[in-house]
Amino acid sequence: MLRLNNISLLQFKNYMVSQFQFTDRIVGICGKNGIGKTNLLDAIYYTCFTKSYFIKTDAQNVRLGMQGFRIEADYTKGNRADKVLCIVRENGKKEILLNESPYSKFSEHIGKFPCVMIAPDDIQMITNGSEERRRFLDALISQVDHGYLLQLISYNKILQQRNSLLKQFSDTGKTNYNLLDVMNEQLARPGNRIYETRKKILQEFIPLVRTLYAQISGESYDVQVEYESQLHHSSYETLLFQFAERDLILQRTSAGIHKDDLAITLNGNVFKSMASQGQKKSLLFACKLAEFEYLKKANGFAPMLLLDDVFEKLDEYRMNNLLQSVCVQNDGQIFITDTHCERLHDHLQQLAHPFQLIRL
Ligand SMILES: Nc1ncnc2c1ncn2[C@@H]1O[C@H](COP(=O)(O)OP(=O)(O)OP(=O)(O)O)[C@@H](O)[C@H]1O
Ligand SMILES: [Mg+2]
Repeated sequence: MLRLNNISLLQFKNYMVSQFQFTDRIVGICGKNGIGKTNLLDAIYYTCFTKSYFIKTDAQNVRLGMQGFRIEADYTKGNRADKVLCIVRENGKKEILLNESPYSKFSEHIGKFPCVMIAPDDIQMITNGSEERRRFLDALISQVDHGYLLQLISYNKILQQRNSLLKQFSDTGKTNYNLLDVMNEQLARPGNRIYETRKKILQEFIPLVRTLYAQISGESYDVQVEYESQLHHSSYETLLFQFAERDLILQRTSAGIHKDDLAITLNGNVFKSMASQGQKKSLLFACKLAEFEYLKKANGFAPMLLLDDVFEKLDEYRMNNLLQSVCVQNDGQIFITDTHCERLHDHLQQLAHPFQLIRL
C-alpha cells in the first residue's frame, strides 16, 4: 500500500516554508480561495511525475521573488520507506533524488509513485481537441510501461527533426529524398510501437471507462469510445510515403500517432456536442477512475488520488457514488480539496472511515 506520510515545501508557489503530516488514508484539505489547496496537491503530483500538473516551466513554480524551490516527500510502500527529493536550484538546474541518489534521467522516476489527479480544467480533455486526450493516454501508459515513455520521447525528438528537415527542404528548394527515407524509417520504429501499445492498452481500458460511466451517472445512455488512428489502415512506413508530397508542401509531418484520438459518442452522436455539463463531468471522472483502476491492476496496489474541487463538479448523487467507489471500495490514499470545510467534513464523515482534515 502506497502512503505519503509527510511533505515539506520550500519556496514552492505560494508556500515559503511548510510541512504537512498525513496521518490518515483519507485526507481532506480545506480553506478559502487562493490559500494554496491546489498548490499542495500539485506539490504531491510533482513528487510522482517530476513536474507540475498545471505549469510547464519550473521557473513559474518558484515562489515569486525567490530563487529555486525544494519539495521533500516521505513515502511508504508496505514495509519500505522512500524519500523523494525534488530540487530546482537557484540557477534553474533541476535534480530529482530517490533515497538520496540522483536520477540521471527523470523519466526513470515515472510510475514508481503512481498517482491520478482530477482537477477542474481537466474537463478540457472531453471538450477540447485531441491533444489533451493523447496527453491523458500517454500519462496513463507511461506509468505502467517505462519503454513506452522512452519510445514517446524518441518519437517526439525525431518528429521535430523531420519537421525541421521539411522546412529546410522548402527553404532551400532542394529535397534530399534519401535523407527523408532515413528519417521516415527512424520515425516509423517508435511510431509503430507506440501504436501497438496504445491499441493493446485501450482494448482493456475502454470497457472500464464505459462501466464506470454507467456506475457514476446511473444512466442507461450508450457511451462509446473508440481508438482512432491513421495506422489502423496502413503501416506507418506506407503512410509517411503516401503523405510525403503533402508534408513537403505543409513543412510538417501530417500523418502518424501524433494525430491519434479517442472518438467518443453518446447514443451515436458526437459526445462533446451532445452531452450535458454533468454528463461531460461524469465521463471525465469515468476516464480518470478507469486510469485509477488500470494502474491499480498493473501495480497490484492503488495509486494515490488527488481530487481538486470535485464538489463543484458533480451533483450529490454522483458525488456520493464517486466517494464510495474511491474511498470505501479502495484502499488507496486520497487527497480531496474543498473551499467549504463543513461540507467536506460532512461528506467524509458519512463514509464512516477514519479521515484527517487539514484546514489551511
Ligand atoms: N510562483 C508563485 N509564487 C507565489 N504565489 C504563487 C505562485 N504561483 C501561484 N501562487 C499563488 O498561490 C495562491 C494559491 O493558489 P491555489 O491555486 O493553490 O489556491 P486554492 O486554495 O486552490 O484556491 P481555489 O479555492 O480558488 O482553487 C494563489 O493566490 C496564487 O496567486
Ligand atoms: Mg484550487
